[in-house]
Amino acid sequence: MQATWELPDGRKITLDVAEGMNLMQAAVARGIPGVVGECGGSMSCATCHVVVTPDWAERAGPPGPFEEDMLDITEAGRQPASRLSCQIRMTADLDGIVVQVPAV
Ligand code: FES
Repeated sequence: MQATWELPDGRKITLDVAEGMNLMQAAVARGIPGVVGECGGSMSCATCHVVVTPDWAERAGPPGPFEEDMLDITEAGRQPASRLSCQIRMTADLDGIVVQVPAV
């Protein structure tokens, strides 16, 4: 399965992501710029903020209640399709997902 990160400078990086792995883990493991994942996925840092592209927003689903609160403190400012990428777990349904790394 794959996911693509669109960077603020226009570059697109596509990585293989194993089922069950979250998108923050995949991004940090391969050094995607702008995805820090400081808290390791415990929803306490918001440094894994991404914006899900329109084609994928519905499948990725809405943020959970606690994630909602954390999205209000993202450095880049929240957008309608903002998510914490540590909370997006790869499934067959999300194979091919495209997310944007917001500019800060
Ligand atoms: S990695 Fe810290 S909130 Fe996602």
